[in-house]
Amino acid sequence: MSFAEQVQTDSCAFNALLWVVFSFGILKFVSFTLRYVSLIADLFFLPKTNFKKYGAKAGSYAVISGASDGIGKEYAGQLAQRGFNLVLISRTLSKLETLQKEFETKYKIQVRILAIDISQDVKENYIAIKEICSELPITVLINNVGRSHSIPVPFLETEEQEIRDIITINNTATLMITQIIAPMIVNTVKRGNKKHCGLILTMGSFGGLIPTPLLATYSGSKSFLQAWSNSLAGELKSSNIDVELVNSYLVTSAMSKIRRTSVMIPNPRQFVKATLNSVGTRGGSQNRFATMTPYWSHALYQFVISETIGVYSKLVNSINYSMHKSIRARALRKAARDAKKN
Ligand SMILES: NC(=O)c1ccc[n+]([C@@H]2O[C@H](COP(=O)([O-])OP(=O)(O)OC[C@H]3O[C@@H](n4cnc5c(N)ncnc54)[C@H](OP(=O)(O)O)[C@@H]3O)[C@@H](O)[C@H]2O)c1
Repeated sequence: MSFAEQVQTDSCAFNALLWVVFSFGILKFVSFTLRYVSLIADLFFLPKTNFKKYGAKAGSYAVISGASDGIGKEYAGQLAQRGFNLVLISRTLSKLETLQKEFETKYKIQVRILAIDISQDVKENYIAIKEICSELPITVLINNVGRSHSIPVPFLETEEQEIRDIITINNTATLMITQIIAPMIVNTVKRGNKKHCGLILTMGSFGGLIPTPLLATYSGSKSFLQAWSNSLAGELKSSNIDVELVNSYLVTSAMSKIRRTSVMIPNPRQFVKATLNSVGTRGGSQNRFATMTPYWSHALYQFVISETIGVYSKLVNSINYSMHKSIRARALRKAARDAKKN
């Protein structure tokens, strides 16, 4: 090959490479733009979810775990408002009885309650759930119950009981409850005269979205729910059941120990309203199937991290570590002050 021919071949190869790089850039830009447009549409423009498709005001039941406080109590109230009968499961009977009376009077619905300690992975609990739900036309399950660490703690210093409780409540019990309730939803949907769909929402967390040092067990347990819930979504699609993992950054509650709301921290009412109004959209979880991050500031926060440094990056991990280290230091100082007072 002459020198001139060699130069021509090299320049063709270079041009081809330029075209590949250029096309790849265009593809990246277009897909980013589409995700961004979809995010904004999901958060601010799409119509609210119509719960009639899940059997609202048609005698259908919604089952909610961890229903007596915080986010679960709001799911119960807002589903009652939409016309669902309820099965409320949680630990404290007195709180459940108060809610039962309130919802039955206010919304003229049927409410069944079950007080069990879900951290006890015993057959009796699951038999009780099966019994209280049997024969009911259930179309909705909200896997809300969850437990985190009492304060941020290095994994090597985490008490065995805390590890066991987190895994039992967040994972084992959530899976077992779903194995009991999902077939009931499948049956209701199959047998119903009207074409209703089923819905299973499971509470995820930014703790599971972003690996979180000093909350390692909680972080792992919520990350497990992401893969499990997405897999289940694929399996139950053909049965007309929508399965969604719901991601949330902080919300004011007993678990978060945060009382004051802010731009980044809604109260349970605001969070659940955003969730129920946008079932079927992804919000901040644009690149994840069957996953939603519905609250607007959480969604924008997730979108920016996912589209830039990434949730699994070293930088995000070390920022998260510093943040939880300082929360732990504050919590330990408070515990020392309280101990002194007593
Ligand atoms: N709050 C946040 O910042 C945040 C952020 C991301 C994700 N989440 C997730 O959202 C979900 C709800 O959290 P939350 O903040 O609303 O919690 P919460 O205010 O502490 O409420 C927890 C609910 O679960 C019940 N519960 C707790 N342990 C139980 C057990 N062993 N057996 C039966 N019921 C039990 C509680 O019942 P009793 O009232 O009877 O104890 C209560 O009704 C959790 O899955 C959590 O991981 C929360």
